[in-house]
Amino acid sequence: MPTVAVVGAQWGDEGKGKIIDLLAEKVDMVARFSGGSNAGHTVVNPQGEFKLHLVPSGVFHPGVTCVIGNGVVIDPAVLIGEIDGLRGRGVAIDRFFISDRAHLIMPYHLLLDRLEEESRGKGAIGTTRRGIGPAYMDKVGRIGIRAGDLLERDTFRERLSQALEQKNRIITGLYKAEPVKLDQIYDEYCRYGELLAPFITATELMVAEALEQNKKVLLEGAQGTLLDIDFGTYPFVTSTTTMAGGACGGLGLGPLKFDRVAGVFKAYCTRVGSGPMPTELLDETGELIREHANERGATTGRPRRCGWFDGVVGRYSARVNGFSSFILTRLDILSIMPSIKVCTAYKLDGETVVDPPYSASALERCEPVYEELPGWNSDITGARRFDDLPEKARSYVKRLEELLGCPAGIISVGERREQTVVVRELF
Ligand code: IMO
Ligand code: MG
Repeated sequence: MPTVAVVGAQWGDEGKGKIIDLLAEKVDMVARFSGGSNAGHTVVNPQGEFKLHLVPSGVFHPGVTCVIGNGVVIDPAVLIGEIDGLRGRGVAIDRFFISDRAHLIMPYHLLLDRLEEESRGKGAIGTTRRGIGPAYMDKVGRIGIRAGDLLERDTFRERLSQALEQKNRIITGLYKAEPVKLDQIYDEYCRYGELLAPFITATELMVAEALEQNKKVLLEGAQGTLLDIDFGTYPFVTSTTTMAGGACGGLGLGPLKFDRVAGVFKAYCTRVGSGPMPTELLDETGELIREHANERGATTGRPRRCGWFDGVVGRYSARVNGFSSFILTRLDILSIMPSIKVCTAYKLDGETVVDPPYSASALERCEPVYEELPGWNSDITGARRFDDLPEKARSYVKRLEELLGCPAGIISVGERREQTVVVRELF
């Protein structure tokens, strides 16, 4: 029975929410392994339109167990709000579990995310200000607070007061801001602990058991490979391993357990926040894509930067993840284009390069080399099989297969579940 990882292959917002919701129908477990409430996964299904930040996008299928793994950083206030919101709309939250080892986002992480960003000035990363970077810093700095700590109040208070000693020195000394208060945070988080207690458990054992019982497990990625802490456009990245391999450490899963790894690519590129994006279109074509596709961040509402498909970083992403296939989303958006460009190489300081340079500043200097393909100029939202797509749309997909070095598995032609072409089944 397969274990399949589905991860973002560009700069996030590739449409992972729709794909996970769609695939979840076929699986026993959906497990998220990284990121936090910086993620914004939009799902449109018969129950309505939802924007999920922490709860796995498998939650709409009764009978599917949803897991937030240890690799995720959890803002309990956001999670509780999300659970309440889902329940209020009739979605059952009964097979939902949180790793006791998952680190928590604390009020001082939110504060420090803002203060750090402000102090970066022109070099700001454009974070979602959800406290992600500061929370992961505390995790590796070994002063983090974990979900399980909320269940052991003495340990929690001791760890919190240790953390606050350090945090308040930074907050007041370095940033000249008001210190945060121990009792206030302790009381607030004890309340969260009571609400979340029924969900907190050793999820790595649940995952292990599911695999032993040959269950179908879907590993849900967040963010995208070009935001990966190691292989993204550093320092304009998030603070985790967003790649498929992150599921090993982020859930407690042996590397031999993966059957397939699918990368989700949008049919064009978008990015929110700062950092290089060689194919960004600062002209009316970029504006046309943004307006037509309503490209605005699901978490922050910021307009997304839009551009043509970048085959150079795309191939890089496919190689570092080892994609067995790719999932192409929002192909229908390109139906309005008379012709479509695909970046196949860069010009960097007079040289042609086919692999992305290591540094963000060199990537900034890269000029895309484009290949132009004819548009199909017709509505494809009704396509259900590959052969239903117009020949020019099929040629576009085939060209991407060549560039990425792996086959297309699923093609999304609209936001609804049924607006999907499955070329190769993942489960
Ligand atoms: P989903 O899961 C798009 C970006 C932020 C910023 C950088 C660092 O919806 O694909 P952070 O708050 O993580 O410290 O910000 O990463 N970013 C995302 N961009 N989609 C996301 O998630 C993102 N999560 C973080 O805009 O540039
Ligand atoms: Mg998103």
